[in-house]
Order: sequence, then C-alpha cells, then structure tokens
Amino acid sequence: ETPEQLAAFEARIAAGEKIESGDWMPEAYRKQLIRMISQHAHSEVVGMLPEGAWITRAPNLHRKMILIAKVQDEAGHGQYLYHAAETLGTTREEMLDALLTGKAKYSSIFNYPTLTWADIGMIGWLVDGAAIKNQTMLAGCSYGPYSRAMVRICSEETFHHKQGKEMVVAYAREGTPEQKKMAQDALNRWWWPAVQMLGPSDKDSPNTPQLMRWGIKLKTNDEVRQEFINEHAPELLEAGLTIPDPDLHQDEQGNWIHGPINWEEFFEVIKGGGQMNRARLESRNRSHDEGAWVREALNAYEARRHAQAAD
Ligand code: 3HC
Repeated sequence: ETPEQLAAFEARIAAGEKIESGDWMPEAYRKQLIRMISQHAHSEVVGMLPEGAWITRAPNLHRKMILIAKVQDEAGHGQYLYHAAETLGTTREEMLDALLTGKAKYSSIFNYPTLTWADIGMIGWLVDGAAIKNQTMLAGCSYGPYSRAMVRICSEETFHHKQGKEMVVAYAREGTPEQKKMAQDALNRWWWPAVQMLGPSDKDSPNTPQLMRWGIKLKTNDEVRQEFINEHAPELLEAGLTIPDPDLHQDEQGNWIHGPINWEEFFEVIKGGGQMNRARLESRNRSHDEGAWVREALNAYEARRHAQAAD
C-alpha cells in the first residue's frame, strides 16, 4: 500500500466513483466492508427468527401470507448481502462460522422477544422503519456491490414498513380495548431498542470516522437516528399511542429531542447478554446442523457433475 495508491483511491472516493470488487482498495477499506456487510447479512437471517415464531399464530390468512412474504424477503436480503461480502474475498463458511460461534455481531434489535402479535406490526413499523433510514443512507455507499444491494433491499423494506404501520394504526385507532392495549404494550417494549439499533452515539462510534472518510457511511449514527425519530414520533402520536420517553419534545428546528438512551443495556445486548442472544444462536446452530445433509448432497452432486464432465 503506497501513499500514491491511497491518494488515488481517496481521489476516486472524493469524485463519487463506485469502487468495484476488482479495483485496488486499502486493506482497511476491505476489512470494514466485510465486517459491516457480513453483520448486516447475519442481522437479516437472525431477524427471521422473532417474526417466524408468529407465522403459525397469525390472526388470519391475510396476515399470515404477508408475514410469510416478509420473512422470505429477509432470507433473500441475507443471501444478497452474503454474496456482496463474498465479492471482497471472504467465504460463506468463514462468515457463518463467525456467526455460529458468537464471534460476529448481528443487530441488537433481534435479541428482544416477540411477546404478542402486535410486536409483529411494531417490528414492521419501527424496526424496518429504522432499517430503511439506515439502508437508504447506505445506498449511496462507495462500494458498488453494497450500494446496489441496498437499492434492491430498500424497495422491499418499504412494503415491510407499510404493512406493519397499517396493522398497528388499525389496532391503535379502531381496535378493541385489548388491541389498543396490545399496540401500546408493543410500543413500550420496542421504542428504545429501535432507537438504539442505529448504533451508539457518535462519540462512542469508533468505526464512523473511517467509514465517513471513505464514503461507506454517508451519515453518522446520530444523524440517521434523528431522521428516524423525526419521522416516527409524530406518526405514533397521531395514532393515539404514547411514546415511552417523557423527555421527548420538538425543538424550534422541528427536530424531536429524545431523553437519555440506556446505552448500558445496548452494550450488554451486543456483548451477548440480551434476553434472546443465547436462544437466537442456539436456533441458528440447530438449523445449521439439521441442514448439513443438504450441503453434503449439493457437494456430492457437484463432485459427480465435475467427474462426468472430466470423463
Ligand atoms: N447491533 C449490534 N452491534 C452494533 C449495533 C447494533 N445495532 N450498532 C453498533 N454495533 C457494533 C458495531 O458493529 C461495532 O462493533 P464491531 O466493530 O465489532 O463490528 C460497535 O458496535 C461500535 O459501533 P460503531 O458505531 O463504531 O459501528 P458502525 O460504524 O459499523 O455502525 C451500524 C453500526 C450503524 C449498525 C453500521 O454497522 C451499519 O450501518 N451496518 C449495516 C446496517 C445493518 O447492519 N443493519 C442491520 C439492521 S437489521 C435489518 O436491516 C433487517 C431489516 O430487515 C429489519
């Protein structure tokens, strides 16, 4: 890595060019992208678990079909993102091993339990809502394969977001007293984890400076968080829900200012100490082990095909 190579690379970033997998890039750029994209992919795959738990318990066929479609989309997002990470030289086995052994992170948000059906709507509204803010920002990322994956994923997330919001607003506005209570209870439990999922505050975000310098992230965690709160606070209030943040208020610029965030809980969760971390890894390991025969069959088929081609 020579200073000239680095300068030429940074000039390309400054000119807004997309870096492609065959292009020269600093090792640190490659490593950052493998870290971010693989953990993003893990988040999509682990994110199927909390929602998947409710597919058999959806209140009607309409809701069941929407949820099946959404969980299926998340699987596809995971595949998409693992492929994008593979363009940087890492392998699927390495990434999966990092997840299954607890070495890799995945989004904190999926370490919370889905206790009622309204959680499914609140996840669509808030979690996919936060993911859209983050992924819309990443769609401008300097690394071509990631940026293009984000464009595709964002369009599907919009459907996830809309169906969740439509469901919760229906319960909150026209629901029975039990449904109204269920929607409020879901907000009480999902509001702060959704605010936290956009990452630690900028002062505690060691990766942000380098990611911003090389155009991987175009906004900081706090900027994306502010966008998320500015959009969702008024909508939740309009639906007649109470946001569990007594300090939340609007300032003269129209920004919604939140109260203190419990970062202790956040760092506990991402260290593996959340309510569902163990259960999520156990599920992933169990599926991986139970699916071993499929991988073996595919490898055997591939080996036979190669042998026949060689004859
Ligand atoms: N959950 C778990 N770990 C988190 C986290 C979160 N919500 N936020 C930050 N961290 C980790 C970081 O990974 C980093 O640890 P590492 O260096 O070991 O990877 C550490 O905390 C410090 O955080 P930084 O702010 O320095 O890290 P980043 O600059 O990478 O910012 C991020 C964190 C905003 C999550 C960024 O990595 C990012 O934008 N990642 C891609 C988007 C993504 O992963 N989204 C997952 C959301 S869920 C989803 O999309 C599914 C949808 O269908 C609902």
